Amino acid sequence: MPPVRHDLPAILKAILPGYTLPHDGTHGLTHWTRVLENGQRLCRATGADAEVVTLFAIFHDARRVNEYRDDGHGHRGAELAASLRGDLIHLPDREFELLYESCRLHTDGITTGDLEMQVCWDSDRLDLGRVGIRPRSTRLCTTAAHDLIDWAHERAEREHVPTQVLAAFYRRYRELRNEGQLSVWEQGAA
Ligand SMILES: [Fe+2]
Repeated sequence: MPPVRHDLPAILKAILPGYTLPHDGTHGLTHWTRVLENGQRLCRATGADAEVVTLFAIFHDARRVNEYRDDGHGHRGAELAASLRGDLIHLPDREFELLYESCRLHTDGITTGDLEMQVCWDSDRLDLGRVGIRPRSTRLCTTAAHDLIDWAHERAEREHVPTQVLAAFYRRYRELRNEGQLSVWEQGAA
């Protein structure tokens, strides 16, 4: 399980029933987990807040409705996070604003802003290899991301599945199911 204090499987339990695209699709759960691992590496290199960056990975594409141009999906992901604040999302106002704005603006091509926003966007852009695009240094925000291009791009190109992260999610998922707290997310557990 990623070393963050948020209960990511419980958050996924809330998100995935409303995610209508394939979990292994271009913008699905396997992309989210690669973004998560990119983000964790970037947080270690930059000192960015890992809670914000990890939650961005989970929410930024969570309310896409197609795999192509999908106007407003970042805003919808941000609003989804807002709807869970106080229940499953526990961030102070400043950090929550960073998460919200990082999701809302993540497809606008911006390369400047608060450190957490830069790291969120870099963690996503480093996974462009899944659609045949090598991230360009000029489109990345941080030098840490420049240094990570080769590692992340190789994983993106072959659509690496972060099995350790997913296995940890599914172990917790089974715990939730055994505790009788889970009625959905069957697709993700397959
Ligand atoms: Fe993404």
